[in-house]
Amino acid sequence: MDNLIDIKGVTHAYKTKAGPFPVLKDLNISIPQHSFCAVVGPSGCGKSTLTRLIAGLMFPDQGEVWLHGELVKSPRKTVGMAFQNPVLLEWRTILQNVILPLEIVAPMMPKAQKEARARELLAMVGLEGFENKRPSELSGGMRQRASLCRALVHKPDIIILDEPFGA
Ligand SMILES: Nc1ncnc2c1ncn2[C@@H]1O[C@H](COP(=O)(O)OP(=O)(O)OP(=O)(O)O)[C@@H](O)[C@H]1O
Ligand SMILES: [Mg+2]
Repeated sequence: MDNLIDIKGVTHAYKTKAGPFPVLKDLNISIPQHSFCAVVGPSGCGKSTLTRLIAGLMFPDQGEVWLHGELVKSPRKTVGMAFQNPVLLEWRTILQNVILPLEIVAPMMPKAQKEARARELLAMVGLEGFENKRPSELSGGMRQRASLCRALVHKPDIIILDEPFGA
């Protein structure tokens, strides 16, 4: 069986005004199916960079990222991601923020069904009653829990959580 995730020889530098800023060098990690993996390292060592590379939000200078035996060439619908900063959209309510992945992955799903799924998750993290608030009306921890709901709402195969319990 293919691994869930294969990081093969990944090297990456950010392009900055001062020139390339190397972050990851020849990184190799294999994560089997049905497993849980934690990446631990000091601040600035490249953990968040790695999550963006796995999710297909960025691509390595060298090397490859494979998910389920498929080369990552674009953002993946089968990935759920909770970013280190919650990055909720201020022009949407909390409910609308949580529904967003379903709008992309399952556009034909009836709106009521999308909302029911989002409400169920929001209730699970103690955000019942806050569905119609804007992100700026929530505390940092509440925003982080809303972003966890957004990562889970479309039942992704792979869930990437970047310091999800920081708040
Ligand atoms: N967009 C960017 N442009 C330039 N350099 C960046 C960019 N994003 C991150 N870096 C640099 O890359 C390095 C790794 O950053 P990254 O966010 O991946 O670290 P991290 O391990 O997640 O740290 P932390 O534990 O503090 O969240 C840091 O030195 C950072 O300054
Ligand atoms: Mg980070």
